[in-house]
This record gives sequence, structure tokens and C-alpha cells, in this order.
Amino acid sequence: MRVLVCVSGASGAGLGVKLFEALKTHADEAFLCLSDGAKEVLKREELKFFDDSEIWQGPASGSFGVEVTFVVPCSMNTLAKIACGIGDNLTTRAASVALKERKKLIIAPREMPIHQIHLEQMAKLSGMGVFIAPPMLAYYAQSSTLEDVERFLIGRWMDLAGIKNEMYKKWDNEDE
Ligand SMILES: Cc1cc2nc3c(=O)[nH]c(=O)nc-3n(C[C@H](O)[C@H](O)[C@H](O)COP(=O)(O)O)c2cc1C
Repeated sequence: MRVLVCVSGASGAGLGVKLFEALKTHADEAFLCLSDGAKEVLKREELKFFDDSEIWQGPASGSFGVEVTFVVPCSMNTLAKIACGIGDNLTTRAASVALKERKKLIIAPREMPIHQIHLEQMAKLSGMGVFIAPPMLAYYAQSSTLEDVERFLIGRWMDLAGIKNEMYKKWDNEDE
């Protein structure tokens, strides 16, 4: 399976990179695309990635064959552009490609609080089959460290993509 992780400039850009790292061992091919905002957050890390401005890269075309596109985290700016069909950078273009090709698109909006326009855009995308999967805390996951929380979130995003993983302990009533 060929997957693409787009990281936009919301808080928690490092989480998107960790999702990408986990996918590298679980998917056939994993690609990473960073927006300028994301790079601001990550500028101290050395990573091999698509620049968001590289609109000519493979994921900008449906024929490249990305099966699953993640936008993790998704800023409200990028959410708005995706919901309006804007494709002005590799992230928004790749999301638009996922929509037109009817492939899986998994978006993790990160803002707090959120206003009505954000909610309307999420509802619009959800109605088109997009997974709206924000980085929510799960108290039942018995996470005691930030790393546990991140592993849980990454595991849930991989679940949505249909990628088997052992990132977190699955819910089991027997544990009660
Ligand atoms: C440190 C930092 C944290 C930010 N966190 C968020 C956030 O959590 N959610 C959000 O929607 N925007 C956040 N922003 C604002 C976005 O980075 C800004 O709207 C930017 O234009 C997004 O561009 P992009 O969508 O192309 O990445 C943050 C900005 C900075 C500098």
C-alpha cells in the first residue's frame, strides 16, 4: 500500500512525523509532505520530505496511486482549503486528488476551541467520506506518558487506514 502523510502547521507537527515513521514499517511505501508552517515547528529535525511547494511531485497526480492520504495534524487553514477544493500546494492538491479518486483521506484537525466555519467544513468533508479524526485524548487507553498517548493516536489513524498495527492495546472488556 502506498500512503502519504501531509503535515500542516498546527501544533503537534511532530506527531505527523511519528505517524510517518510508524507507517514506514507497516506500508509498502510511505511519503511525507511538510507545509512551511510544519517546517517552522520541525526546523531542527533533519528529514527527507516533499516540500509543500513542490506541486509537481507524484502525489499531485491521481495516477501516482496513493491509497491513503493523511493530513496530520491539519491546521484550520489547510482544512478550509481542502473543504473548498483549493489545491495551491502539494498537501491541498493531494487531498483534492484523494477526494476525486475516492481514496481514503484521513484528517486530524487541531484547534481549540473551534468555530462554526471549522465545524461546517469538517461536516462537509465528513459527508464526502473523509475521516475526521482529531488528536483526542482517550482516558480508557491507560496512557501514562505522552509517548503512550501518541502511540494510541498513531495506532487509531493506522486502524482507519486499514493498516494492522500493535501501536496500542486494543479495547478488551476481559481486562475489566
Ligand atoms: C507554534 C504554532 C502553533 C500553531 N498551532 C495551530 C493549531 O494548533 N491549529 C491551527 O489551525 N493553526 C495553528 N497555527 C497557525 C498555522 O500555522 C497558520 O494558520 C498557518 O498559516 C497554517 O499554514 P498551513 O495550513 O499551510 O500549514 C500555529 C502556528 C504556530 C506558529
